Amino acid sequence: MNIYQKALEERKQQHLLRTLPLPPDGIDFYSNDYLGLAQSQSLRFAIENQCSNTPKINGATGSRLLSGNSEYAESVEREIARFHHAESALIYVSGYMANLGLISSLATRETTLICDELIHASLIDGARLGHAQKIRFKHNDLTDIEQKLKKTNQQKIVLVESVYSMDGDLCPLKEIAEICSKHDALLIVDEAHALAVYGENGEGLVQSQGLEDQVFARIMTFGKGPGIHGAAVVGPAWLKDYQVNFSRSLIFSTAPSYHHFASISAMYKHLPKCGAERDQLKEKIQYFVQKRNDSSGQWLESNTQIQSLIVPGNKEVVELAEKLKKAGINALPIRKPSVAEGSERIRFCLHSYNTKEEIDLLFGVLTSP
Ligand SMILES: Cc1ncc(COP(=O)(O)O)c(C=O)c1O
Repeated sequence: MNIYQKALEERKQQHLLRTLPLPPDGIDFYSNDYLGLAQSQSLRFAIENQCSNTPKINGATGSRLLSGNSEYAESVEREIARFHHAESALIYVSGYMANLGLISSLATRETTLICDELIHASLIDGARLGHAQKIRFKHNDLTDIEQKLKKTNQQKIVLVESVYSMDGDLCPLKEIAEICSKHDALLIVDEAHALAVYGENGEGLVQSQGLEDQVFARIMTFGKGPGIHGAAVVGPAWLKDYQVNFSRSLIFSTAPSYHHFASISAMYKHLPKCGAERDQLKEKIQYFVQKRNDSSGQWLESNTQIQSLIVPGNKEVVELAEKLKKAGINALPIRKPSVAEGSERIRFCLHSYNTKEEIDLLFGVLTSP
């Protein structure tokens, strides 16, 4: 057995082995398709329609900096910038690549990154690839962030998520934006779990609170609520120029295809039409929270579509997920090291298309012996 196979064996022993599951039958309490857009016929037709109107080229043929740019790509980015009340938008093939390129390029030796302790792995990896000093602050803790900001005279960048992907709670954006402005720090907000879900037209949490002028940059990912894939960084005009010069995941990678740009454009045109889905999701969240509050169990406080039940121990949390699965419910066990030891959990994702009966069934299984 070589060292890599041994590492796999260790994972197995610790109940940590990752595999690639095929889509299971059963009730969806696990996907990020919060509004059902990944399965929406009308979005599909809109995408097909938009695809048939793009210049007839399949692949982009090169990086955006070489042969992969087009007037079409730039027009879609202008559309996104307008939608988000920003000066510029720059599209990446995924949220992971956007965070990797954006954060690593900004994390110069003259910069200090001040990060919420619960930020996503893609932001952490971006920070790791950069040269900046990194300081973590306690999750959503306004006193701690202020103390950490006082620790440096360098250019400061604060990294947060608007809806935290594992705990499902919201960032106190207004307060954090005020603190950032007081300490001359640039605020970057990852809106991965907020785009499509928050805001009158699904613009995300920052815009729904009218804070777009106080936030330096936002990462919009398209693979969750919006139902497609890809991402964009929106921010000031110079930030786009900066990424074109320094963001290695943009520079050294083939640009998205015309079809990808077309699907992004169709998705943005579709988001304002999803008010009914957003209302249905809100209703399901309220129902779930009420049931959660009436039940025992160590639930994390969250009023969003992400609800987590703490079940300490990798083995224990996997067993509970299997019990749910047997009852026809798909919900993911989140194990150490994805979350801290002792805070292993079942992460329930709610959707506009979940029914109250499905939620009742879920709580029935959780309380059954
Ligand atoms: C907060 C957050 N940011 C970024 C990403 C990465 O986005 P993508 O899936 O488009 O690579 C994710 C995905 O899990 C996420 O949860």
